[in-house]
Amino acid sequence: MPKSKRFEVLNERPIHKDGFVTEWPEVGFVATESPNDPVPSIKVQNGIVVEMDGKTRDQFDMIDVFIADTAIRLDNAEKAMATPSLDIARMMVDINVSRDQVLDYTLSCTPAKLTEITNQLNIVEIMMAIQKMRCRAYPSNQCHTTNVRDNPVLLAADAAEGALRGFDEQETTVAVTRYAPFNAIAILVGTQSARPGILTQCSLEEATELQMGMRGFTAYAETISVYGTENVFMDGDDTPYSKAFLASCYASRGMKMRFTSGTGSEVQMGFAEGKSMLYLEARCLAITKGAGVQGTQNGSVSCIGVPAAVPGGLRTVAAENLLSMMLDLESTTSNDQTFTHSDLRRSVRSMPQFLPGTDFICSGYANEPNYDNMFAGSNWDAHDFDDWCVIQRDMKVDAGLRPAKEEEVVKARNYAARALQGLFRELGLPPITDEEVEAATYADGSNDMPQRNINEDLKAVEDMMNRGTNAVDLIRALDKAGYQPVAEAIFGMMKQRISGDYLHTSSLVTKDWKVESAVNKPNTYQGPQTGYQMSEERWNEIKAIPWAVDPKTI
Ligand code: 5AD
Ligand code: CA
Repeated sequence: MPKSKRFEVLNERPIHKDGFVTEWPEVGFVATESPNDPVPSIKVQNGIVVEMDGKTRDQFDMIDVFIADTAIRLDNAEKAMATPSLDIARMMVDINVSRDQVLDYTLSCTPAKLTEITNQLNIVEIMMAIQKMRCRAYPSNQCHTTNVRDNPVLLAADAAEGALRGFDEQETTVAVTRYAPFNAIAILVGTQSARPGILTQCSLEEATELQMGMRGFTAYAETISVYGTENVFMDGDDTPYSKAFLASCYASRGMKMRFTSGTGSEVQMGFAEGKSMLYLEARCLAITKGAGVQGTQNGSVSCIGVPAAVPGGLRTVAAENLLSMMLDLESTTSNDQTFTHSDLRRSVRSMPQFLPGTDFICSGYANEPNYDNMFAGSNWDAHDFDDWCVIQRDMKVDAGLRPAKEEEVVKARNYAARALQGLFRELGLPPITDEEVEAATYADGSNDMPQRNINEDLKAVEDMMNRGTNAVDLIRALDKAGYQPVAEAIFGMMKQRISGDYLHTSSLVTKDWKVESAVNKPNTYQGPQTGYQMSEERWNEIKAIPWAVDPKTI
């Protein structure tokens, strides 16, 4: 057969570099509605769940027991479970039914029931439901601040820029594990030098991560993974109980925390038990709820290639975000890991979260060029800042970011880099040169930075940790170095962890040190002109992309 030139062109398009598969339910290659998914059911006797989703208590695995004993509000369970899933689905898109009225049902549902409810909704209805069910009144955004060389000066400068661009949470991780304390400190100093109150974290192996938090170098943690089948859990030497214990370790030290889960992890690890990705994710979210954790980072996250490869996969990713909200959990909705070669596809993937708004639309927007993203690349990176801002302006949507001016960014980057220079000097750490400060001020990425002596840095990190250095030492050193505002801001962060207000669901700390969460800023959306309405001030900010020209001057 002769070759079609049209097909030849189409085959060359970026979308053809993406991987697609047909469904294979037996191994879990199905987004939702696997023929092996259980039929929803519950039986409660003397306050104990004796049957759940088609299994009697003696057939329960460890996850079933945990969910049955901790995750479901039993007083209303039989009524909620007897209500047709379609009725509950309709309540979610009915503006005459409040969020709280929906929660009365959904907090009493089993994982199979929750899955069945969202299976009734199309993608637009999922977005309508997200608009109402998100916990906090208004949306926000989280970024990754990392670089491939773990360069602390660049981390501080990037953190400061990310602060100006509007991220209320920033997360770092490492290329080299031993660098972790420097990375954590660098983004702490960078964020607090530009916009006090931003919460920061450093994603690491669990014991080290907890230690960063206890020393005051970080304010929150979120990469505490849970999974929907017992085998995957055990593979990571964990149980829902060990994760719940870890969660309380964080909370007891005044650190915000959320779990991470997402569709595709069980398939990827080869233990999906033939269940759909969405049903297994509903189990993860029930575990999260049962552990008493305030929120989740979900939406497939690092497994996005798996749901993205099957039919309906990206609809299901939005559905799993909605599931978190149906459990009254803070929703930090992924949109992080890169999964496609197509710019069209990666934009569309984010719209179900971007348009209705979630508590944190991206749980890891790369606040650097993608070559410096140490979470394996993000769906959105620093080179997309202007696109994101234009989409906000086009759609008149608040998606958490603001257009920043070059002068203010350069100034903030420079101040952050100098503050870190002063801190390093006072703590006796390997010097940060003026040349490095200058480079970080104007850099796009780590390719623009002079090399540091990595061995010397790592040795200094170790000594610093052995000396027991903590946030109080940072505050003193910054004060001594002449960076009082940064010292004050980090001191402010320490006060936050004593008051513990940011442990509430969907919290963030504003620039005036107000904690805003689902408690004092609940989502009250119930149809047109209700719920969060962008202020005039915020709309003016979104409108003001610096490169728009005044037509009167043309
Ligand atoms: N399920 C569970 N944990 C996940 N993470 C990312 N995606 C998932 C998922 N689908 C966690 C892992 C990873 C970190 C970035 O987030 O712990 O290391
Ligand atoms: Ca994240």
